[in-house]
Amino acid sequence: MARLDGKVAFITGAGRGQGRAHAVKLASEGADIIALDICADIETMDYSNATPAELAETVALVEAEGRRIVATVADVRDFDAVCAGFQAGFDQLGRIDIVIANAGILKLSVEVDPIAEWRDIIDVNLTGVFHTVRAAIPSLIEGGRGGSIVITSSTAGIRGKKTHHRAGGQAYYASKRGLVGLMEVLALDLAPHMIRVNSIHPAGVATDMIMNASMLAMIESEDPALQNLSNALPIDVLMPEDIANAVAWLVSDEAHFMTGVSLPLDAGFTIL
Ligand SMILES: NC(=O)c1ccc[n+]([C@@H]2O[C@H](COP(=O)([O-])OP(=O)(O)OC[C@H]3O[C@@H](n4cnc5c(N)ncnc54)[C@H](O)[C@@H]3O)[C@@H](O)[C@H]2O)c1
Repeated sequence: MARLDGKVAFITGAGRGQGRAHAVKLASEGADIIALDICADIETMDYSNATPAELAETVALVEAEGRRIVATVADVRDFDAVCAGFQAGFDQLGRIDIVIANAGILKLSVEVDPIAEWRDIIDVNLTGVFHTVRAAIPSLIEGGRGGSIVITSSTAGIRGKKTHHRAGGQAYYASKRGLVGLMEVLALDLAPHMIRVNSIHPAGVATDMIMNASMLAMIESEDPALQNLSNALPIDVLMPEDIANAVAWLVSDEAHFMTGVSLPLDAGFTIL
């Protein structure tokens, strides 16, 4: 019997990157998946989001694990759309046990439209996570079987670094630290229901969020916003599967005592 047999997980940002890795890993452990992704770009960002084809690839990978998946294109900034995506999956799969609020955006480059960049990053990274958990919590409680919520923050949610007066960076650090506050109060509010809430704090992960042309140009120009961002362990970058392996444990019954924890998955980034 696999660790997550019969469970259902709701995952945002599942079109690619860490969200896809979570979907595939949890499916390999026996879970069915409710997936959601915007599959469209956000104009103020300097890289592209996932495409519908990438979300379809996530669907195929989960099905190749022998599990069911209900995937919806929706923007986490739109609460009604998040609720509809969650409900479509819940109706088909019949229960909910795990929520991974993972969708997020990043902009560290020189600001172009600071007010809009701040708004979009806070809306996706902070309000979007609130929408995600809010959509699922009533069904989690009603299920009466407990549950596990994982909020994807970042090392940016633990330790501030210089942004060089860029609204995108300021919003990213603020949103990721804000998630820790949300995680802690949810952990307390949901503890009586045996619903656990934790945040994870990855260092750099090899996904399109940081492996893109804008970031490459910043690296080549030795942009100051990328200084002092190294890990303690001699590992340049983590892989999405590294994060998914840790999350699969965190949402399993093996971690049934873990709640209210900000868990660094960072090769020692935050102790440097
Ligand atoms: N890659 C890193 O170095 C790193 C490090 C620490 C934390 N994180 C966090 O990990 C999470 C996953 O990022 P990733 O590394 O897989 O990057 P990614 O860009 O590959 O994946 C993010 C996914 O979220 C989706 N998304 C973006 N905005 C959305 C919206 N408004 N509604 C719904 N979906 C939306 C994108 O389409 C994409 O599929 C993010 O919250 C990110 O901030 C990333």
